Amino acid sequence: MTWLITGGAGYIGAHVARAMAGAGEKVVVLDDLSAAVPARLPSDVPLVTGSTLDGPRLREVLTEHGVTGVVHLAARKQVAESVAEPTRYYQENVGGLATLLDAMAAAGVHRLLFSSSAAVYGNPDVDLITEDTPCAPVNPYGETKLAGEWLVRAAGRAYGISTVCLRYFNVAGAAAPELADTGVFNIVPMVFDRLTRGEAPRIFGDDYPTPDGTCVRDYIHVADLAEAHLAAARRLAGDAPAGDLTLNIGRGEGVSVRELITVIGEVSGDGREPVVEPRRPGDAPRAVASAERAARELGWRARRDVHEMVASAWEGWRLHHGK
Ligand SMILES: NC(=O)c1ccc[n+]([C@@H]2O[C@H](COP(=O)([O-])OP(=O)(O)OC[C@H]3O[C@@H](n4cnc5c(N)ncnc54)[C@H](O)[C@@H]3O)[C@@H](O)[C@H]2O)c1
Repeated sequence: MTWLITGGAGYIGAHVARAMAGAGEKVVVLDDLSAAVPARLPSDVPLVTGSTLDGPRLREVLTEHGVTGVVHLAARKQVAESVAEPTRYYQENVGGLATLLDAMAAAGVHRLLFSSSAAVYGNPDVDLITEDTPCAPVNPYGETKLAGEWLVRAAGRAYGISTVCLRYFNVAGAAAPELADTGVFNIVPMVFDRLTRGEAPRIFGDDYPTPDGTCVRDYIHVADLAEAHLAAARRLAGDAPAGDLTLNIGRGEGVSVRELITVIGEVSGDGREPVVEPRRPGDAPRAVASAERAARELGWRARRDVHEMVASAWEGWRLHHGK
């Protein structure tokens, strides 16, 4: 097998490239460098500069590198930006995927792992979200991931491609400081940012129907997520046909915003009291995965806890922000 990893020079992609190459898989990365840190990639992983919107380039890469499977991570991922620029998000996330699927069909590539998101669910009122919980995304980003899943399954049926859609929950941490997320779009870097500025972390609403009144989420270490990709790739490459698997990737455990901020305080040594601000529109009280189907289908479970996640993210933050 040779795997093409699109978006492989991004935060999650570089972890996936490293985990797969480290486990002996042959990988090549395609990235348009729009949000990449190419130095994240191991030196023995080839990086091809190109976009998933460029069909001829994709066909060239698939053929020249003898690609037999694709791990598709390349996408735009900022919710607020997707609300402001929905056409761009549909063009790049759904259009880029359609172009990739056409190129795969033309080149005879029959295995695809698609990077989806818990954003496909929207805000379901359930204790644990299973893969059968109805999908009702609440922003264009989540819509492009759900439309992407539909397209993946339809193309899989039409062109004989085995597919796995992984719905990631809240990704955090780093396998090594230099691989850390450099963006400040998720809660962990947002709290680090506040602390680094000498400001108190913010909690948006502490009157939710949860044990401590703050929102509860399922945080997953990016190194565990990368291992899930390796397990899914091996399932796709194996003899038993994968068909069209769709799997939640989370820990199956809820952590409240207040609990997370306490762990960040312990790890950073800056345990200042958070300030409570009004609720943000659109935040669900609770979003926690059932991780049972992934365990059953892939033999994979997350191994790293929230403390390890935060500690590794903090090391990366210190490296990138010079603290
Ligand atoms: N980070 C999260 O918490 C999270 C959660 C759920 C799902 N996801 C999904 O995981 C994937 C990776 O996310 P990430 O956090 O690593 O993001 P990222 O922005 O760090 O990485 C995306 C990579 O894709 C590249 N890219 C973007 N558009 C491209 C295109 N058209 N052609 C080629 N390369 C392109 C970028 O340069 C970047 O290197 C995305 O599909 C995202 O939607 C992320």
